[in-house]
Amino acid sequence: MARFQLVRDENGYGLKDVLSNQRALVIDFLSPQMHHRRAHGGKKELLLKAVNARTGLEVWDCTAGLGTDSFLLAAAGCDVTMFERSAVLSILLEQALLSLKKSGELQQVSNRMRCVREDSISFLKQARQPPDVILIDPMFPARTKSAQVKGEMQILQRFLSKDENARELLRLAIDSGVPRVVLKQPATGTGVPGFEPDFSLSAKANRFDVYLN
Ligand SMILES: C[S@@+](CC[C@H](N)C(=O)[O-])C[C@H]1O[C@@H](n2cnc3c(N)ncnc32)[C@H](O)[C@@H]1O
Repeated sequence: MARFQLVRDENGYGLKDVLSNQRALVIDFLSPQMHHRRAHGGKKELLLKAVNARTGLEVWDCTAGLGTDSFLLAAAGCDVTMFERSAVLSILLEQALLSLKKSGELQQVSNRMRCVREDSISFLKQARQPPDVILIDPMFPARTKSAQVKGEMQILQRFLSKDENARELLRLAIDSGVPRVVLKQPATGTGVPGFEPDFSLSAKANRFDVYLN
């Protein structure tokens, strides 16, 4: 039997690790946690500062994952394209986006988000017109206990192997001519050797390395 299963209940699809007691992973942009981060975290979210988020800014999130960063950026007014190469995560993202679209209050946020089921490396290789910002949040391996991820991210980390192509993705993003690239990583991360950021913003758990073109 496969360790990871796409399970379905009355609320839709979720990703279950059958070797864990954790409940199935679902993406829910309407959850109380998301509401809290959107409503109260705005100025505190370092992501928004690193991206310089504002209305109408076009952002490509090249590593969408659970879509949390994309959602916060869209809630701040950015137009966000989420690239996700995992078919399972894409299903969960598309499902979450559909629920968001059906919600009254946050429909406008969903109108600023779209999900592309594609490897962003392939996409960047043929992209002609870069956006304003490219965000990259690869699955770096946790090096220290304090850098270990919690909750839903744990399932994600077990389900997906660590990203071996972060360097290529960063290089393609910088070479695309986009004015700003933001690389997110654990606070203790060592970055990508050979790529010095113009500046970094650090919080307890994460660091954002910003590359300006
Ligand atoms: C650490 S997670 C991103 C978490 C995300 N920032 C969030 O807020 O939920 C990394 C995700 O990027 C995806 N990914 C990595 N490399 C990719 C690529 N080249 N193209 C598309 N998706 C990629 C992985 O499948 C994984 O879901």
